[in-house]
Amino acid sequence: MLKITKDLSKSRAKVTVVGAGFVGAGVAQRIVEKELADVVLVDVVDGLPQGKALDMMESAPIEGFDTVIVGANDYELTTNSDIVVITAGLARKPGMSRDDLLAKNAEIVGGVVDQVAKRSPKAILIIVSNPLDIMTHLAWKRSGFDAKRVVGMAGVLDSARYAAFIAIELGVSVKDVRAMVLGGHGDSMVPVPDYSTVNGIPITQLLPADKIEAINQRTRDGGIEIVNYLKTGSAFYAPSSSAVAMVEAILQDSGRVLPCCAYVNGPYGIKDLYCGVPVRLNRSGVAEIIEFKLGAKDLEALKKSAEHVKELAAKIS
Ligand code: 2OP
Repeated sequence: MLKITKDLSKSRAKVTVVGAGFVGAGVAQRIVEKELADVVLVDVVDGLPQGKALDMMESAPIEGFDTVIVGANDYELTTNSDIVVITAGLARKPGMSRDDLLAKNAEIVGGVVDQVAKRSPKAILIIVSNPLDIMTHLAWKRSGFDAKRVVGMAGVLDSARYAAFIAIELGVSVKDVRAMVLGGHGDSMVPVPDYSTVNGIPITQLLPADKIEAINQRTRDGGIEIVNYLKTGSAFYAPSSSAVAMVEAILQDSGRVLPCCAYVNGPYGIKDLYCGVPVRLNRSGVAEIIEFKLGAKDLEALKKSAEHVKELAAKIS
């Protein structure tokens, strides 16, 4: 019988992606196409990860990548992964908030963490499942890992949406826009216009306050805007790009400063909580939380957002 796929490399980095839905498959595709690492794509649905992995391998001659992706329904091949990206869980439908997914996804994510933590005790976990801040906290507790090695993807996505809307409004290149969104990945997230710039120029000097507030609100509603269009699921192109930006920063030990859901215990007056803050990401995971001076209104909003996350966290602890 012919082999299904190439063997995983013994020398390249290995990233496990759990969940072969649109987000997980997108993460896997971007990782192998960028040749960042070999990928093990895991999903409970029989044939789904295998089929998607083989399909991607068949795109390799056209895209020109030599990285390998394999699909599996169990965790054997995930052993000693450098990074595990967890996308497993249910997505929202119209009318649902991310928080409505709490009970079901806590069960799914908890089970996944048990499986990956024992096989890859040195891995860095990147959580993508919603409600994001709570699932990241849960993954940290369940894995027993150092908090530096458990991080959630949300700020990169929310900031990308903010940047996209700023670029659209001003008619400027997205390449010149740097945007920052902090706080929980939910309705209370905090877009920070003072630190969102077009090539260094704060948007507060380029747009009137009402326009900025409209863009802020569109950013807070960024996830549901897509859910309402799609009706049967949530966003996946920008979420997968965002998770891969984090994978890349970690594997390349770049020290990129990205807003991520990290364990905060002190900075910004937030205690013992996973929440979106700017972090320096490198091969060790969250190398550092960067605390900077926020305007009074934004600091207040960040604390409020953290309180909301804390209330939700209390529901599962
Ligand atoms: C989003 O914001 C699914 O939470 C994700 O689109």
